[in-house]
Amino acid sequence: MDRSKRIKEIVASCALVLFLGAASLSSGGQTPTVNSKPVSPKPIKPQAALKANPAASSNMQDWWKNAVIYEIYPRSFQDTNGDGVGDLNGITSRLDYLQDLGVDAIWLTPIYPSPDVDFGYDISDYKNIDPQYGTLADFDRLVAEARKRHIRILMDMVMNHTSDNHEWFLQAKSSKDNPYRDWYVWHDGKPQTTAGRPLPPNNWQSLFGHSAWEWDENTRQYYYHKFYIQQPDVNWDNPRIHEAFKDIIGFWLKRGVGGFRFDAVTTLYEDPSLADEGIVLDKDGKPVINAYGDPQLDNSKTDNQPGLHPVMQEMRAHSDTLNSDQFPGTRVLIGETYLPNIEELAKMYGAPDKPEFHLPMDTQVGFLNKLDVTAFRSKLIDVQTQIGHNIPLLLFDNHDNARLDLRYGDGVHDTDIERVLATVLFASRGASLFYYGDEISMKTTPPTRKEDVKDPIGVTGWPKEKGRDGERTPMQWDTTPNAGFTTGKPWLPVPPSAATINVQAAKSDPTSMLAWYRSLIRLKKTNPAFANGANLMLDTENIKVLSWMRQAPGSPEVVVAVNFTAEPQIVNLAASGAGMQAAHVRTLLKTPGGPVPRSLAAIKLGPYGVYIGQIE
Ligand code: GLC
Ligand code: CA
Repeated sequence: MDRSKRIKEIVASCALVLFLGAASLSSGGQTPTVNSKPVSPKPIKPQAALKANPAASSNMQDWWKNAVIYEIYPRSFQDTNGDGVGDLNGITSRLDYLQDLGVDAIWLTPIYPSPDVDFGYDISDYKNIDPQYGTLADFDRLVAEARKRHIRILMDMVMNHTSDNHEWFLQAKSSKDNPYRDWYVWHDGKPQTTAGRPLPPNNWQSLFGHSAWEWDENTRQYYYHKFYIQQPDVNWDNPRIHEAFKDIIGFWLKRGVGGFRFDAVTTLYEDPSLADEGIVLDKDGKPVINAYGDPQLDNSKTDNQPGLHPVMQEMRAHSDTLNSDQFPGTRVLIGETYLPNIEELAKMYGAPDKPEFHLPMDTQVGFLNKLDVTAFRSKLIDVQTQIGHNIPLLLFDNHDNARLDLRYGDGVHDTDIERVLATVLFASRGASLFYYGDEISMKTTPPTRKEDVKDPIGVTGWPKEKGRDGERTPMQWDTTPNAGFTTGKPWLPVPPSAATINVQAAKSDPTSMLAWYRSLIRLKKTNPAFANGANLMLDTENIKVLSWMRQAPGSPEVVVAVNFTAEPQIVNLAASGAGMQAAHVRTLLKTPGGPVPRSLAAIKLGPYGVYIGQIE
């Protein structure tokens, strides 16, 4: 199959496109128009301590404001006991690598006991560690060792659903008058019957395919599940659920975690009217059919309902009370927030007197999945100017989406394109989140046969939806068997590309992606303009090159120019606003082999080239 067709298929079939698809439809799919004048957000206060020592920043209250956060999918990072599944001791053994890379925090996808239908996102006990990953003692050791290296551990907090094996659900389904019954979302079906049972209460669908209602024959009611059947949604109208989750959050904060990434928060509530959702129509007025063969719904009754805001205010207030001397610095709340527009993202920060997330993810920029300068600029201006005094959290990748090569690459310049994305990620104001393996340019490697698929959506949706295995393959450390990930049989195959794409090879190559990530992260941490300076777009009419400037009071300004095309470009940043004349510019970082400009008036960029310079 030709590559672009394959990319389209993979991207279109990606599970989270369901979120994003709904989002862009409800925003009319429009790209806001770009202001031709440079936009100047209010400069934020310089934090002197950031200047010199990156380690010092990790002890500050404000560590998260320019944090570098690394997402680890623990099953796939490092195995130490030969069972083919990564574990906590494996992560601990790799902390020096992460410290050297410059990360401030590690977000671990779920490591709690789980039947692993959704590989950890179906939790059966929120206050323990799944034995395949280790023990609570291993966890405490990870937190302690990470702390020595100024790295915080962030847990995944799944509050939308539990596993159907969780004690709460086992109780709830045992009878209609069990005290746990209303911890979940139960409803009678419609009076009409099929096969001796009522029809589901409405047309709502699981994001993982087919009806969101599962019939329970024992109690003759349906329960609601936005994700897999084995992931029943909990009932947030029940005050006991609020107390239960605050208790869980407290449990981990007291163990010294640096905060949480809240999973699927936009799905906490459903519209109590139980009205059907609208069917999305194509341009000919016909229903759009998704990868599972179902009509695509607009998610209007089951996503981003207003009730989630008071819940997050409550969780934030609770978490803020648990800041302690034992682990100084703010405990940060990050949100998985696929949203239709900047207004909805802005709401996720809450109001100053009722804060919600510190860092709700900006999925508007990172999942554009297209190198379009105008769209990038517009979305970046949005998040730099439309969220009040809050801090953006940018990201381009995670464990639910095809890796960068398939979403942004062209098959020819993938490495340089990944440099472009990393530059936007780290050289923009705010916090940056990336996914294990991005720093060595790991490729998406989806299964080629249905019988090899591990992620159940890949079975339901095969061949259109191949599931998420392709972006969850083992970390590629070196050229020993199984890329140094395991001495056993890895739970997912190690991609053949590991022979050349691995940490060991990258470490000895000054032009590697790893070297690029390290350089960008060092700049972000040590150069005051990058650490916390204002973010000002330059040359805003340019449709081929994205340029911006970072400005911190009392330190030299820096400029960044990024070519979004396969052709060489020249930009003149001297005339492009901010009152800069044809000043001398000193190179801080550029694409390996890229030209050195004589002045700000003529910055030359190769195909997908990047230039970063300091104005002198
Ligand atoms: C989030 C997770 C995804 C999981 C889903 C259900 O989207 O990132 O991996 O399948 O929630 O918990
Ligand atoms: Ca293991």
